[in-house]
Amino acid sequence: MIVTVEGKGKGSLLLLLLMSSLLLCEDVACHPLCGNECPPLYTNLFLPMVAASHYVYFTAKKLFLDFEHYYSRNKFFFMPAIRRCHTAGITLPDDSIRPSKIEYADDFRFVVRLLHSWNEPLLHLASEAHRLPEYSSHIRHEAERIANQSRHLQELMNNVVIQFDPEITSKVDYAVWTELPSLQSADKITRLFATYNLLRCLFGDFRMVGGYLKWLLCQFAESFEC
Ligand SMILES: *[C@@H]1O[C@H](CO)[C@@H](O)[C@H](O)[C@H]1NC(C)=O
Repeated sequence: MIVTVEGKGKGSLLLLLLMSSLLLCEDVACHPLCGNECPPLYTNLFLPMVAASHYVYFTAKKLFLDFEHYYSRNKFFFMPAIRRCHTAGITLPDDSIRPSKIEYADDFRFVVRLLHSWNEPLLHLASEAHRLPEYSSHIRHEAERIANQSRHLQELMNNVVIQFDPEITSKVDYAVWTELPSLQSADKITRLFATYNLLRCLFGDFRMVGGYLKWLLCQFAESFEC
């Protein structure tokens, strides 16, 4: 069989997937290259990532809303807490310079950088939660759950991304978070405000990650309903 893949180097994943989808095709006796008949391989790769990212997103959203509901004294209480997220400098890849379908390394790099930027804050969110009044064990538990799921998502991504460019996961230019002193502050309002903003940013970033992975799934798996 001859499979032609445009582009240098980065075509290997596509080639690999085409080969394995051809192998799968033999089992179900369908035509080479499958069309819409065969199990879409990209869907199999991306669906677990999309599912994991949505799970984190919903957990983070619920935690944020619970936190706000529990600690907010009035409608505007947390307004002054809103600050720039530490990940604000991680910007979307420029879509206008995408030369071909297999040039998605920048998109993966974007998602990996965002996820990596949350590893440290999530650990501290869990470890410092005991300083918050009353509700803290719920926050610690949920922050741990989110940290675990995010690590799981990063493992799933590593397996896919390494085939595009191993440096995406070996050299991650992540955003450094510097708000630990605020989480540990002697002032209760400072701790509440810092936690609020962290949860707000977490929820926003994982909404972005979930949406972006879904978009990538749609780019790769043409037969998947988007
Ligand atoms: C997170 O993962 C650790 C280590 O695998 C485990 O001990 C802990 O129970 C997990 N926490 C939650 C809330 O899932």
